[in-house]
Amino acid sequence: MAIPSGRADHPLFDPKQRIKLGIFGSNVSNGCTISTAESSFRPTWQQNLDLALQAEALDFDLLVPVGRWKGFGGETDFNGDCLEVYTWAAALAARTERIHIFATSHVPTVHPILAAKQAATIDRISNGRFGINVVCGWYTPEMEMFGVQQLPHDDRYARATEWIQVCKRLWQEQDFDFAGEYYTIKGGYMLPKPVQQPYPLLINAGVSPAGIDYAAREMDVNFCIVSTLDQGRELIGQIRGKAAGYGRDIGIMSSAAVVCRSSEAEARAVWDHIVARGDYAALDNLLTTFGVQSGSMTPEAARELTERFIVGWGGYPLVGTPLQVAQEIGRLADIGVDILLLSWLDYAPELNYFGEQVMPLLKDMGLRV
Ligand SMILES: Cc1cc2nc3c(=O)[nH]c(=O)nc-3n(C[C@H](O)[C@H](O)[C@H](O)COP(=O)(O)O)c2cc1C
Repeated sequence: MAIPSGRADHPLFDPKQRIKLGIFGSNVSNGCTISTAESSFRPTWQQNLDLALQAEALDFDLLVPVGRWKGFGGETDFNGDCLEVYTWAAALAARTERIHIFATSHVPTVHPILAAKQAATIDRISNGRFGINVVCGWYTPEMEMFGVQQLPHDDRYARATEWIQVCKRLWQEQDFDFAGEYYTIKGGYMLPKPVQQPYPLLINAGVSPAGIDYAAREMDVNFCIVSTLDQGRELIGQIRGKAAGYGRDIGIMSSAAVVCRSSEAEARAVWDHIVARGDYAALDNLLTTFGVQSGSMTPEAARELTERFIVGWGGYPLVGTPLQVAQEIGRLADIGVDILLLSWLDYAPELNYFGEQVMPLLKDMGLRV
């Protein structure tokens, strides 16, 4: 297990829990499932609070929302109805006691002084359980809505570097000036400082060379896509190698779509049902913007990728019986995944089933205490 540099005493990196578990995407409509398959899940405040309390009772470690300003259209207008991430995190921080809570924050839509101040405040409210998932804003219609000019790809990470450097200085220093290409700060001042030292945990899901480099330099955790165990092992090696080049270690987070039932056949039938009811118009909008060149793939690879996006926003498939799901989580831990975020078609009942059926197996396997 990787412990990010300077975070040896951080409770989220307690080595006793070999794999940390979190919930992904409960603040957005349809969560991570781009499908009209029936579900009781709605991104309401009440459901989000209930899920957070349920997750905490099951000893889950963290909650990570999706940062979204506009839906992807289609029949579902996928993710269009969503709770804003800092206010969501602040409210959950006040109502929970142990679980770590993140905000997925877009660099171009929030000034770093406001982001740092909100983060310090939520870190105070939660007594040191807050973190930021920094995203640069790849979905151009969202950025256009703000009237923000979308920068060339790698320049987004140059701006994100200044953005986080301003935040870090506000969290650690007082009365400083900052003169960058994107931000100018005169007499930087912020009180109170965050509870976490030196600052709240930082995550980034960059997958490009510029994104991986940014995470390696500035972040505690890289949030990456594991498609297969072999690809994941190699990618994790690259990410950690990049961080080592900066004299740092970095944690590895990934996401998975869980379809767990008492028999494998039943789980696969549910997966197929979600795929059959997929909102392909929304998926098409998402993939076109996300820049996935499915035309250059084999039809088999394109179909597999399509299914994974429909069922879990590209997350690793955990489909089968509780034992099969627990064993696969073990394999992900073995290749170096430190933190695994889970999503389900219908969060509350399926989280409950996971807690009853899979958690005890993870404990038996020594992956959780
Ligand atoms: C698992 C995962 C979750 C992400 N969550 C969000 C999000 O909530 N909001 C957002 O605007 N971008 C999100 N992104 C997009 C990333 O920030 C990033 O732009 C994308 O992975 C492309 O990488 P690149 O910027 O290095 O090209 C996510 C990406 C991944 C892989």
